[in-house]
Amino acid sequence: MTDSRSVEAVPARLLIFAPQAEQAMAQKITGILAAAAITVEWELVLDAQSALFRLANQPHGLLLMVAASDPAPALALWAGCRSKAADLLGVMFLGAPDAAVVRQVYHAGVSDVLLLSDSDDQLAHLLEQALRRAEHSQRVHWLNFKAEQDGFDLTLQPVAQSQAMRHALQLIHKVAPTPLPVLIAGETGTGKSVLARYIHLQSQRAARTFLTINCGALTPSLLESELFGHEKGAFTGANARRVGLLEVADGGTLFLDEINSAPMDLQVRLLQFIQEKRFLRVGGNQPINVDVRLIFASNKPLLDLVNLGQFREDLYYRINVFPVEIPPLRARVDDIPQIAAQTLLRACSQLNLPVKPCGPGVLEAVRCYPWPGNLRELDNVIQRGLIVSQGERVELADLPLEISVPARNAGSQLIATEAIHGFPWPLNARLDEVEHAWILHVLKACGGNRTHAARQLGIDPSTLWRKLKEV
Ligand SMILES: Nc1ncnc2c1ncn2[C@@H]1O[C@H](COP(=O)(O)OP(=O)(O)OP(=O)(O)O)[C@@H](O)[C@H]1O
Ligand SMILES: [Mg+2]
Repeated sequence: MTDSRSVEAVPARLLIFAPQAEQAMAQKITGILAAAAITVEWELVLDAQSALFRLANQPHGLLLMVAASDPAPALALWAGCRSKAADLLGVMFLGAPDAAVVRQVYHAGVSDVLLLSDSDDQLAHLLEQALRRAEHSQRVHWLNFKAEQDGFDLTLQPVAQSQAMRHALQLIHKVAPTPLPVLIAGETGTGKSVLARYIHLQSQRAARTFLTINCGALTPSLLESELFGHEKGAFTGANARRVGLLEVADGGTLFLDEINSAPMDLQVRLLQFIQEKRFLRVGGNQPINVDVRLIFASNKPLLDLVNLGQFREDLYYRINVFPVEIPPLRARVDDIPQIAAQTLLRACSQLNLPVKPCGPGVLEAVRCYPWPGNLRELDNVIQRGLIVSQGERVELADLPLEISVPARNAGSQLIATEAIHGFPWPLNARLDEVEHAWILHVLKACGGNRTHAARQLGIDPSTLWRKLKEV
């Protein structure tokens, strides 16, 4: 991938669906497209079958459905074409702003609604924005980010049974509705990208655009041009004006992943944007104002990079307004059963396999393993286990050796513990977790009598009281 090849704009092709009854509105829209000099190849079709035929035979970025008098035909077409063209963006032109219909349209996955009551200028602006988004999604496809976006599962919900993750999620719920930037820190595979989108979905911008850019995956000049856009002729290969992600995400959220990899020059431009809320396209001289909420993720401690002179201190303080540390999986052992169950169900449906439960010892083994690759590794192990398992359950033998062998070796010890107390400790459990669980176990065995439990545990009743309050 070279810079000059990647910066060429990918024009979005527009298909306009307007049944006979909507022809007057369709003419209004094509008039607006022409008057606003929006560069787009468009085609008008009158019936759903022709629309489906066109979509099947030529890639289109945007489907504009004119539904000023009746939304039903447009909704039926949209339902029919979504499964065939997952990249397609939909815009619906409605008559009256009926809240129930607007909700239904958004619910169906249409990204924008245009209304009869909008002025020509507003319509032109909204159409141009939708086209930019369509162009962006085609570009994303082209730049090969698509795999990551496709792998993203909107149904992934954060799991927070453990105290460490409960704390992180509480912070997330507090910051999500605010306009503040968020810095998500955590080891690789801890779910930072999933949580960035979760923050967006919990914010008032949920219905607007959410875009991701990985600062570690692009060359410095491509990264700059992707973010800020560029003017025609700004550099060799810039054959057309290109709108950057900051403009495309206007009104929504931009997630800058691996911000620790951002080159110094970009850090300067980012700082300027954060302070002034406006920027210049590369080669441009007109400041552009946008309203974008920024979320950052880093898989390295940024302060260490600041101390090494690899990250600007002033930018660090600007983005570290609300840091959230996502604990590694080994520090949230209590979350493992639910994450594993969630992952298993998801994997069964993705792989089209019947749901298989886990056999004896599997969950214990999974709890005991330290998971250096965190949730991503757990996901891979479960998918692999499902694929290799022959029987009706995923067995210990279906797990990789590094997980199953230590578990087998520890097996006799775990079973013995279980036989005596009915409570096997995971080998990597934290001391305070074990202590708390043991206190509760003894307390239960003593029928809730704290004096008896304290005596049994060899501590003062006041120490027991304090320890119970601490956790
Ligand atoms: N809540 C969850 N439930 C189940 N699986 C999850 C959850 N969150 C994340 N995962 C799994 O972990 C994988 C990695 O998540 P994600 O990409 O958000 O991690 P990350 O911290 O951004 O990683 P990296 O630092 O490498 O970018 C996901 O693809 C998914 O398989
Ligand atoms: Mg990530």
